[in-house]
Amino acid sequence: MTRLVEIPSEKVPVVGGRSLFRHDEKCVVLFNLDGTLYAIDDSCPHKGASLFSGKLDGRLLQCPAHGLRFDLATGCIPNLYGFGVATYPVEQRGEACFIDLSDSRPQEPSA
Ligand code: FES
Repeated sequence: MTRLVEIPSEKVPVVGGRSLFRHDEKCVVLFNLDGTLYAIDDSCPHKGASLFSGKLDGRLLQCPAHGLRFDLATGCIPNLYGFGVATYPVEQRGEACFIDLSDSRPQEPSA
């Protein structure tokens, strides 16, 4: 079942920015990299640290606690597939942005 939720405009990050978005029990970090929006769980799958303040290197986000790095597009750790942070599709419809909170899992990169 699709769980499409509109992101309030003040929570949609500007280019180069990030924001925290809470909905029900979910806490998601939104990133805007060069106009592309990414959404991941704020909780690191290793020990649960907040990923909001993690350092970005391109699309790789480094957890501030112990340094694991996650690809924002897939949620995966480079070269370690099947373990990673949950990601969520984000789509723009006109002026509005929506997040699909029903599809949360690390995505295997396509070969
Ligand atoms: S809590 Fe994120 S790497 Fe340990």
